[in-house]
Amino acid sequence: MIEDGPVYRNPTQPVARRVEDLLTRMTPAEKIGQLNQVFVVPENREQITELIRQGGVGSRIIATSHLAGSTEQQAAEVEDLNDLQRIAVEETRLGIPLIHGRDIIHGHRTVFPIPLALAAMFDEALVEEAFAVAAREAASAGVHWSFAPMLDIARDPRWGRVVEGFGEDPYLASRLAIAAVHGFQGDDPAAPDRVLACAKHYVGYGAAEGGRDYNTAEISDTTLRNVYLAPFRAAVDAGVGSVMSAFHDLNGEPATGSFYLLTEILKHELGFQGFVVSDWASVAELVNHRVAADRCDAARIALMAGVDMDMVCGCFQEHLAGLLERGAIDAARLDDAVRRVLGAKFRLGLFERPYTDPQAGARVRFAPEHRALARRIAARAAVLLENRGLLPLTKEARRIAVIGPLAQERRALLGSWVLDGIIAETQTLVEAVAEVCPQAEILSASRALSDEMLMRAAEADVVILAVGESDARNGEYNNVAELRLPAGQDELIEAVAGLEKPFIVVVLSGRPVVLNRAARQASALLWAWHPGSMGAAGIADVLFGDAEPGGRLPLTFPRSTGHVPIHYNHRSTGRPAMSRYHDMPATPLYRFGSGLGYTTFTFSDIVVSAATIAADGHLTVSALVTNTGLRAGETVAQCYVRDDVASITRPVRELKGFARVALAPGESRRVAFDLGPAELGFYGRHGRWRVEPGTFTVWVGADSSANLEARFTVAL
Ligand code: NOJ
Repeated sequence: MIEDGPVYRNPTQPVARRVEDLLTRMTPAEKIGQLNQVFVVPENREQITELIRQGGVGSRIIATSHLAGSTEQQAAEVEDLNDLQRIAVEETRLGIPLIHGRDIIHGHRTVFPIPLALAAMFDEALVEEAFAVAAREAASAGVHWSFAPMLDIARDPRWGRVVEGFGEDPYLASRLAIAAVHGFQGDDPAAPDRVLACAKHYVGYGAAEGGRDYNTAEISDTTLRNVYLAPFRAAVDAGVGSVMSAFHDLNGEPATGSFYLLTEILKHELGFQGFVVSDWASVAELVNHRVAADRCDAARIALMAGVDMDMVCGCFQEHLAGLLERGAIDAARLDDAVRRVLGAKFRLGLFERPYTDPQAGARVRFAPEHRALARRIAARAAVLLENRGLLPLTKEARRIAVIGPLAQERRALLGSWVLDGIIAETQTLVEAVAEVCPQAEILSASRALSDEMLMRAAEADVVILAVGESDARNGEYNNVAELRLPAGQDELIEAVAGLEKPFIVVVLSGRPVVLNRAARQASALLWAWHPGSMGAAGIADVLFGDAEPGGRLPLTFPRSTGHVPIHYNHRSTGRPAMSRYHDMPATPLYRFGSGLGYTTFTFSDIVVSAATIAADGHLTVSALVTNTGLRAGETVAQCYVRDDVASITRPVRELKGFARVALAPGESRRVAFDLGPAELGFYGRHGRWRVEPGTFTVWVGADSSANLEARFTVAL
C-alpha cells in the first residue's frame, strides 16, 4: 500500500518532501553514486553493471564515445536500457532509477534541419513542435533527458558548433530557448512523450578564440550578461531541468570549475533550481586546464563550484567519499547536488515509470505526421538570398540538370549531431526534384567536378547546382580556418555560370561560407542548410513554388573570413565611418534577418502608442505591412531598438520583436510589438539591470537594415 510505504515512494507527495525523505535514508556512497554518469560499451558492461548494483551510478548517457555527434554511435536497444534499469530499480537498496540522457539535438529518428536552420524560421511555434516531436520519438526509445537545446551565441562561424545553436542574436535565441524547453518538457516532463531538457554549454563557449572548439574565451561581464547569458536566463525562467557546464576556460576560469559562473550567477542570480551536469570528462579536464593538481582536486573543485553530476570521467565516484571524510568538501553541498538530481528524477516520474515499452517506438518514430512537419520546416528554414526572376520554377516538361557534389548526397543532408536518423531513409535532391516535378527529364551526374557534370548542365534548360559542406565539416571539433566552400566548388560554380544558362545554386551547409561572385550572380541562390530527413523534398517544394522559402538569416554572413567576428548588434563606436578595411567594404555580404520570399512587401506608417513612458512602462510600436506582389506570401516583420544615450556603450540596434505575417496579394495588416522594461533595459556596471531615461529609436522592417523609424522617451 502506498500509504504504508516510505514517503519518497508516494507520488501524491510533493517532490520536495519525497527528496528530503529519500535523502535522509541514503549513505554517503549512495549519494555520491547519484552524481555519477556512465556510458556503457561491451568492454565495460560487466563492471558498470556491478557498479549500478552497488548504487554507484545515477545516470547513463546513451553514447558510445566522446564525440557522439561526429562519430558513428551504436543505437541503444530499449531492452538493454531496461535491463540495466532493472538492476538499479530492483537490486539496489533504495531502488533509485537511472536517468538516461542522449544528444537529441535536432530530432531523433525524424531529423529536422540543424538548429541554426530552425532559428532561421523566426517561428517559435514550429520550433516548439519540432522539439516536441523529437521528445516523443526519443522518449519512445528510452531516453529521459536530452542534452539540448544548445544555447551558445556564436559570432564566429569558423567555430564548427555554430551549426548547433540559434545564431548570433540573444533575443532570437532566448525566444527559441523557451520554445525548445517547452517542446521537450511540455507542461509536465513526466508525460510519457516528454523528456527533460538541458541548456548547454554554460556559458560563453561560442566565443572560443580563433573559432577553435574548446579554446579559451574572454568576455566582459556586461557582454556576458547582455548577450551570452540571455538565452540561459530565458531557459531557466522557462523551467529547464538541467544545465551543462562547458569545456572551455572563460576569463581565466574553466566553466566547469567556476563557482562564480555556476553558483553565484546560475544558481543564485538566475535562480536555477535544476541540476548541473558537466560536459564529457570536463571535470577531469580541470587538470589539463592546470587549475587542479589531479583528478581528486578536480572532483573537489567541480563539486564545490556547483557541478552536480559528473559526466563519465568518474572523478566524483572515485574521490568524493575520501574528500568528504577529510572534510575537504562540504557535506551540505553534496546534499544539495543530490537533492537536485533526485528532484529531476521525481519530476520526470521515473520512480513510477522507470521502464520503456519496447514496442511503443515503432508506432511513433518517423511517423507520417513527423515527416510532414520536417518537410514543412525544411522549406520554412530555407533562405532565398538571390532571385533574378527564376524562382519558383514552373512544373513544365523540360530538361533539368540536378548536379553538384551534394546533388546525390544523403548523409550530409541530415547534418551534424545525428545519432538516430537513418541515412537510407533520406532522399537525395535528385530524387526529390524528380518526384516533385515528374514531367521534367532529370539529368544527373556523378559527384565529382567532371566533364560529365558540365555536359549535363550544358544539355539542360535549367541547372540546379547543389554545393556545400559535408556533415563532418562542422559540429563538435570541426572548425575551419577559411569560410570557403570545400575545394573545387568555387570553380564548379564558375564553370556552370560560364554556360550562361539559368542556374540555381543550392547551398547545403552548417555555417555561413563566403561565396564567390559567380554564386552571388546566379539566377537564384538558396541557402538550404543541412535540412534533415525530409530536407530534399522541402527544398524541391521551394524550388517549384509548392512552398515559399521562409527563412531569414539568424546570423550575419561575412564577405571574408577576415571579417569575423561580425554581428549586426555591435556596439556604437567613436569613428564608425573610419572603422573600415582597405581591401573591401566592412559591411556584411548578407545581413542578419535578411531573406527573400516569392512576393514583395513594404513597411509604412510606423506609430508609437506613447511619446513618453515611465521606466517601468510599456508602449506599442506598430507598422503597416503590405503585400505589394502578385502572390500570397509571408514576411518576418522585425522590430529593432536602440537606447540613444546610455551609461555604457550599447549596440547600434538590437532585435526586440519579430512576427511572421502572411498576406494575400494587395493585402495590408498592422503588425504591433510591445516594448517594456524587458526590451528597453540592459545590464550595466556591476551586473545591475536598468532602464535608463532618455530617447529610444525604434525601427520596423524586413531585416536588420530596416529604416522605417520612430522615437519615444523614457521619462526620468
Ligand atoms: C560533448 C559535447 O560538448 C556535448 O554537447 C554533448 O552533449 C556531450 N559530449 C555528450 O555527447
